[in-house]
Amino acid sequence: MSVKEHILTLLDGNKGGYISGEEIAGRLSVTRSAVWKAIKSLQKDGYSIQAVTNKGYSLSPHTDILSAGAISKYLDTQGQKLGLEVFKTIPSTNEAVKALASNGEAEGKVILSEEQTAGRGRKGRKFFSPPGTGIYMSILLRPKLSAVESILLTTSAAVAVALAIESVSGKDTQIKWVNDVFMDGKKVCGILTEASMSLENGWLDYAVLGIGINVSLPTGGFPNDLTGVATSVFSEGNPHGDLRNRLVAEVINHFMGYYEHLTDRMFLSEYRERIMLLGKPVTVMKDNKQREATAIDIDNDCRLKVRYENGDEEYLSSGEVSI
Ligand code: BTN
Repeated sequence: MSVKEHILTLLDGNKGGYISGEEIAGRLSVTRSAVWKAIKSLQKDGYSIQAVTNKGYSLSPHTDILSAGAISKYLDTQGQKLGLEVFKTIPSTNEAVKALASNGEAEGKVILSEEQTAGRGRKGRKFFSPPGTGIYMSILLRPKLSAVESILLTTSAAVAVALAIESVSGKDTQIKWVNDVFMDGKKVCGILTEASMSLENGWLDYAVLGIGINVSLPTGGFPNDLTGVATSVFSEGNPHGDLRNRLVAEVINHFMGYYEHLTDRMFLSEYRERIMLLGKPVTVMKDNKQREATAIDIDNDCRLKVRYENGDEEYLSSGEVSI
């Protein structure tokens, strides 16, 4: 962590209270002038930090910032082992983690950002990532999974997000197969897993699990193309204080719980319970042909079982179905 991130973590852990420059300098083993410089820089970044003579520095209690320190307060033992880094702005957290992965970075690096300027979605789409109202994070994983099994990363992550949202908001969530999380019929979270295969052993070399959650309404609302299809976890007013940090930690806690024994598929019952499509008509696009069917089940590999009008049944992987 940089001096700035350390200071932010200290102030965030004592929001509304004062910590003297001397104490901060002592705890970080830096000079008081280095503390002062870092505080100035944080204020320039937009953090509301009061500096009062003889008292020290205080972060406004209304501050809702993502910080590694605040997130770790809520992390379980497994999550504590991850290396969290929070950016104010970044083109794409997935892109940043992919670059680290290709350079040999170990499993467990997590990059989060308050904003993405080039957030990526599936199928080459953009992911709307405005500042301060969402969670944009990517986790570097090096699992012993084959390419076919990599679907388990994405689907278990969807369940982790669903459970985390339910626990911080008290509201229900649904999952649109394969991995979009919905609330009240609108998308609240998208997941993009980008994996690279090892040529040596048939396992993944790495996977970057990218998660984007709309936590509160962006200033000015969603852009036109998202109105009616996107929503946020909290739609009225902003969630107070630490909710985004707690939500991040809950996602990580649930995900890491599943990840340890992923091929046991412990998440599957929670996944099936939330799948929106079951029993509903779907359109299957295959080999340039379109056929109507009913979605009837999810198998152990998270494939969708459909029944066609003539009674034939088939298991489908993602990308072949629309509602
Ligand atoms: C989708 O809905 O199509 C997937 C969206 C995935 C967005 C997340 S936000 C964090 C990570 N960084 C990115 O550029 N994309 C993913």
